[in-house]
Amino acid sequence: MGLGTAEVPPRPHIFANKFETWLGVMPAYLADSEAMGVKIVGDNPHNFKKGKPNNPALMLLNNPQTGEPLMVMDGTYITKFRTGAAGAVAARYLARKDSRTVGIIGCGSQGEAQLSCLKELFKIEKVKAYDAIPQRRKGYVQNMEKKLELDITEAEFPKQTVEGSDIVVTCSTSTTPVINGEWLSKGVHVNAIGAFTPQARELDSLTIGRADKIVLDVPEARETGDISIPVKEGTFDLTKIYGEIGELVTGRKVGRTSTEEITVFKTVGSAAIDVSTAFRVYQIAKSRGMGTEIDI
Ligand SMILES: NC(=O)c1ccc[n+]([C@@H]2O[C@H](COP(=O)([O-])OP(=O)(O)OC[C@H]3O[C@@H](n4cnc5c(N)ncnc54)[C@H](O)[C@@H]3O)[C@@H](O)[C@H]2O)c1
Repeated sequence: MGLGTAEVPPRPHIFANKFETWLGVMPAYLADSEAMGVKIVGDNPHNFKKGKPNNPALMLLNNPQTGEPLMVMDGTYITKFRTGAAGAVAARYLARKDSRTVGIIGCGSQGEAQLSCLKELFKIEKVKAYDAIPQRRKGYVQNMEKKLELDITEAEFPKQTVEGSDIVVTCSTSTTPVINGEWLSKGVHVNAIGAFTPQARELDSLTIGRADKIVLDVPEARETGDISIPVKEGTFDLTKIYGEIGELVTGRKVGRTSTEEITVFKTVGSAAIDVSTAFRVYQIAKSRGMGTEIDI
């Protein structure tokens, strides 16, 4: 992404108002690895009540030499963990290296993926987790404590997860702010995962205003309410966006430079990561003789 060798156009999408279902198409071509493909992904904030994923997805890979379909596979699991990995990589560049306390707001699928991936990179000692639905946060604490062998406390209010945390992750389906910028400690890093439309935001304008560095995954992330609402209000100027995560990963821009900075990573998801992950899965499956050949 940061090298300019990935072709990733803005994603077309449609919205079924009656059901609150969003459907997006996310194509990418990665010239370096010769991976080409597309993800078709849905989003419905009520799915979890039916025991269904918020983002059901299908991945297709194509042969870049001919355009022929190469592989079709589930994209839901890839979406879940590529987003967790993206959050952890952003924290690697933007959070303090000695980050030990993590606050999670939103105890669903992303709450699980984000914490699991952060644990791979940080020596986490304490986690505070909040969800608007008490049973969701209780279940999360029980499951994740066992799964990750971490000390996780259930928070009754979002404020408790933010105050004193080194890394805060907002990964809810909320469309209104779950963070008040007054709660942020100096040196905190925030991964803002959830909101993805111009009307929705998880961060309030003060959080955006207090951030010393705001980094996006893809340019479209600036269209989410997290960024676009403060811009409309006149409290934030787009020129203050520091850059894209690819620029940090490829060393063209530096990440955190002081222990005092407040940093924010805003993501809406990148098709380049979907396609590169799916291509790797395809290569591994082929090498192990897995999968089924079908004639189309
Ligand atoms: N940036 C990306 O690449 C990316 C990728 C996947 C998902 N997402 C987004 O992340 C969000 C979460 O996805 P998920 O799969 O974990 O969904 P999920 O349905 O599994 O979990 C969402 C949780 O948020 C909780 N919630 C809703 N409002 C809340 C509030 N005000 N405060 C606290 N908790 C609240 C719900 O109770 C639920 O437990 C969605 O908006 C999804 O679109 C983003």
